[in-house]
Amino acid sequence: CGIVGYVGERQARDVVIEGLRRLEYRGYDSAGIALITGSGSSGALAVDKRAGKLANLEKAIEESPLPPSTTGIGHTRWATHGAPNDVNAHPHTGPRGRVAVVHNGIIENFARLRDELERRGNDLVSETDTEVTAHLLEAEVEAGHDLTEAMQRVCRRLEGAFTLVALDAQDPSRVVAARRNSPLVVGIGEGENFIGSDVAAFIEHTRDALELGQDQVVTITREGAEVTDFDGNPAEGRHYHVDWDLAAAEKGGFDWFMRKEIFEQPRAIADALLGRHDEAGQLQLDEVRISDDELRDIDKIIIIGCGTAHYAGLVAKYAIEHWTRIPCEVELAHEFRYRDPILTRNTLVVAISQSGETADTLMAIRHAVKQRARVLAICNTNGSTIPRESDAVIYTHAGPEIGVASTKGFLTQLIACYLLGLYLAQVRGTKFGDEIAGVVRELAQMPANVQTILDDAESVYALAQRFQGTRSVLFLGRHAGYPVALEGALKLKELAYIHAEGFAAGELKHGPIALIEEGLPVFCVVPPRGRDQLHDKMISAIQEVRARGALTIVLAEASDTEVAAYADVLIGLPTVPTLLQPVVATVPLQLFACELATLIGHDVDQPRNLAKSVTVE
Ligand code: G6P
Repeated sequence: CGIVGYVGERQARDVVIEGLRRLEYRGYDSAGIALITGSGSSGALAVDKRAGKLANLEKAIEESPLPPSTTGIGHTRWATHGAPNDVNAHPHTGPRGRVAVVHNGIIENFARLRDELERRGNDLVSETDTEVTAHLLEAEVEAGHDLTEAMQRVCRRLEGAFTLVALDAQDPSRVVAARRNSPLVVGIGEGENFIGSDVAAFIEHTRDALELGQDQVVTITREGAEVTDFDGNPAEGRHYHVDWDLAAAEKGGFDWFMRKEIFEQPRAIADALLGRHDEAGQLQLDEVRISDDELRDIDKIIIIGCGTAHYAGLVAKYAIEHWTRIPCEVELAHEFRYRDPILTRNTLVVAISQSGETADTLMAIRHAVKQRARVLAICNTNGSTIPRESDAVIYTHAGPEIGVASTKGFLTQLIACYLLGLYLAQVRGTKFGDEIAGVVRELAQMPANVQTILDDAESVYALAQRFQGTRSVLFLGRHAGYPVALEGALKLKELAYIHAEGFAAGELKHGPIALIEEGLPVFCVVPPRGRDQLHDKMISAIQEVRARGALTIVLAEASDTEVAAYADVLIGLPTVPTLLQPVVATVPLQLFACELATLIGHDVDQPRNLAKSVTVE
């Protein structure tokens, strides 16, 4: 969910709605706003909330305008408890309409608290866990506590994960927020201050941000921001400067954020590589705050992530094992801790997360930290929770990713994984050591390589045009091309809502080949021609599906003359080493999914049922 809070001199309505627009990618099942009008005991709340996208709320506000106010909160929802209708939309208010609350997360003991409130005679109107907190907060302010104390008192009773932001109608001077396991940042302005799920909420107004720690409460007024723990003891947030600007959070002439982000990939990769190696190809990963001795002791790596980040991990396994000879497992973050994984001080857990807030991944690293494993995060969001709780972090520096389907996030995750693998090889001095500088040189070519594919985007768009009516698409790959196949399929599912599956090409004959029928489009990612037999084996797989009527769309080196005979459509890729091929091979699949979804008429940036960062388990 997306959360905004504001207190200052401007019209809170405008600031909150604008903030919600920039956060809408975090959830778009419903949207709502609450403002304070008047002051003291005559203060009152004005609330409006609507099911569906933010546009519905904006339309409602246009038809019946909200009163002027300089204190407000807003919310855009990704539904967990209760259907996405008007009643369940946030903000929720207390029984007397004095306190309004917006919430992200899940309050695990909400049923118990709800029973308690109902026994006290409170009448709850929604099915949400959030309304419970509104009732509890209101009881505290009615009992004479200020909203800050009320928040501390209520948070002490809550279990689970939450970001809460609240208003008390009788105190327009403050907005109070709290967080546990769920994202929240403060924007520091002059004569005004902001609260947001992430900095996009206020980037238009200030780039000075304050990061909160776990289990903290922050009170913003016009004058400043005060942080405490849940017991009311003073606490310190960490101030930082946001290094991207408003332009990064806008579409800049593209129809979709996603398309813009696909085209930003050469730049993003260059930024991910910047300053991480010297002329001689020696890697310098200062952020890996684990000593060389400790890195030499690592005897197992477990990579965890969800969705696209998990696929980046699958690619990383091929590269890291090859370069370092350290056994490497890859696991879905939500499966990890429930299987009681074997972790020691010499296990390196690598958590990949674009947002740094995915709850499944966060809970997994907490488990790893508890078991004393070392945790390294690969993350795109400065100051987010996962890197903060890890021993080390490699930031991907892709700039904000707003399209819900990850693109530049994925490619830069791959780059960070390669850097990590090469760095480990360098520190540990494996026999592969001599080749590191060569791979680093190849990586430096990646921005240009990706650019060549983007320059030919039109041919992929033409393909999307041709397959507009398709109901099912398969993707095949081998080795590092296998995760590319999975990612290609995921992009189509996410954006075009088409049945799509990725397979390891070798597995085809063990079952999936039964799916092949006349005219079925099958994307085939062909590894570069090399010393091993991967390339030829892939060609055999293509022949097998073609013999059964599939229409083959083959991604292969542009110079690969052998493969042309088996391709109904050929997409040429630059020549790169096998382990790095996912960086280039993924790009046409991103373009295809983006274009196909556009042609079908779907909202590419906000696909149905999804959210950019899922902060609940
Ligand atoms: C959500 C998004 C996916 C993303 C996954 C992991 O499910 O819809 O696109 O890959 O979360 O996100 P993360 O921020 O942890 O990389």
